Amino acid sequence: MQDNRTQFQRFATRKAQLEAQYNSAYFAKQHKKGKLTARERIDILFDKDTFEEIDAFVKPAGDINTATYGDGVICGHGRINGRKVFAFAQDFTFMGGSLGSVHAQKIMKVQDMALSMGHPIIGLIDSGGARIQEGVASLAGYAGIFHRNVKSSGIIPQISVILGPAAGGAVYSPALTDFIFMCRHTSYMFVTGPDVVKEVLNEDTTFEKLGGADIHGTQSGVAQFIYDDEEHTLLGVRKLLQYLPSNNIELPPHSEQPSTAPENPDKLSIIIPEEANIPYDMLDIIKNLIDKNSFNEISELFAENIITGFARLNGKVIGIVANQPKILAGVLDINSAEKAARFVRFCDAFNVPILVLEDVPGFLPGSNQEHAGIIRRGAKLLYAFSEATVPKITVIVRKAYGGAYIVMNSKNMGGDFNFAWPTAEIAVMGPDGAVKILHNKQLAQAEKPEELKAKLVSEYKENIANPYIADEKGYIDEVIDPADTRAKLISAFDALENKHMEKSAKKHGNIPL
Ligand code: HXC
Repeated sequence: MQDNRTQFQRFATRKAQLEAQYNSAYFAKQHKKGKLTARERIDILFDKDTFEEIDAFVKPAGDINTATYGDGVICGHGRINGRKVFAFAQDFTFMGGSLGSVHAQKIMKVQDMALSMGHPIIGLIDSGGARIQEGVASLAGYAGIFHRNVKSSGIIPQISVILGPAAGGAVYSPALTDFIFMCRHTSYMFVTGPDVVKEVLNEDTTFEKLGGADIHGTQSGVAQFIYDDEEHTLLGVRKLLQYLPSNNIELPPHSEQPSTAPENPDKLSIIIPEEANIPYDMLDIIKNLIDKNSFNEISELFAENIITGFARLNGKVIGIVANQPKILAGVLDINSAEKAARFVRFCDAFNVPILVLEDVPGFLPGSNQEHAGIIRRGAKLLYAFSEATVPKITVIVRKAYGGAYIVMNSKNMGGDFNFAWPTAEIAVMGPDGAVKILHNKQLAQAEKPEELKAKLVSEYKENIANPYIADEKGYIDEVIDPADTRAKLISAFDALENKHMEKSAKKHGNIPL
């Protein structure tokens, strides 16, 4: 039998061996590719000296003979902004960060712990995918990770940070999480790589063009946050966590800083242009409503005709969904509906009250949209708003026409408080279209059709496309002065603080997918 001293010596030797594997060659291998090491990433992500590693000494399964510990992934827990978070960081320097069965077991262990303890989990992905040598065992490992991603969905926030390759079926773990961060030039995600694309389709492409950060941030909508370097990417994750509760039974964290109101609330009264067809920047409205510098935009570069993001109002976290008249007149289309629907569902799952700022002329017409499924894909936003039980408030600032009026959290879809500015135009359609349909014959026979049209349009605005009819019929709770909006919202969200709605007993609904 070994005495205690021998055991302590072995303990010390193993510890020294583990430290020794993180040597200059380890750093050089990654730095040469313009990337940080798994260890450096963890140091940036977590509060100083709070990270505790689990399973540091495991070795790969089967015949893989190595002196290296860990099987290519660092797992553990620590604190971010003082709050407990679990994480795993793949180490590309060991077998390309490939996922063998032991590597997978380590990840599943932290997934299980994060779920049962109710803490967020963050995956730092840098991997060649399924470990080829381990065959089906590595595929089974991925399956176990995906299964846990789904089990955790809606219970703890899950964040994926892509800091190298994420190829093949391996992309589906990040896809099942709540938010994906990517770093320009060094990270990429695709189901089939450029070689296969060339072979099957004879199409020339590159990692960057096929699945780089810019593609996923602007075109596919797969990644919500894009940064220029790894440090800012990881700091972005720290920032996002400031808005998220640790799990679905907690509230988002209150700010410890005293909230600072925007300097000039009167500015809100002059943002909407005189002419209904002139665009303006909805971000000007958002920034003049919320606590100073508190907006954290999500999917900023994708479907820019709708804005989604977290903000603070009087120190409390809210989620904002706002049409952006500056892009495509703020119209709803497939991408914007899906982007907003996913955000609304996140807010609902994690107790984040929702504010809708509305200026929407309708749905985007055309064969492209119809053939790509605007009917079933636009329905996602209807479903998401309607299903959400968190406090929901809408402010109509200008256009609210037709189906788009209904979708954007209208009163009869379950809006708790629905306000409108005096500049609101609430109607089945815009004045030009309505006048053409209602007065087609009259206009065709008129001596001066342009003059008549202008008169009819003005009458339509006066009599129909305004906020007062909706107000008088109770579809709007109040027409408010833009300058009072912040105070009204603070008071309305306060009134809704204890909102509780029982959901009917069913397994789950059937959201259009
Ligand atoms: C085992 C792997 C590996 C893998 C890389 N390596 N990927 N080992 N299994 N999947 C090893 C390499 O052999 C090499 O080992 C080291 O990692 C670094 O790889 P390099 O190729 O030198 O690096 P680089 O040039 O940067 O290229 C990175 C790469 C390339 C683009 C990711 O390695 C690659 O194409 N790998 C295979 C990707 C892939 O097809 N994976 C399977 C996807 S399908 P040495 O000893 O030389 O350092 C999949 C199914 C998941 O994942 C299913 C889930 C449902």
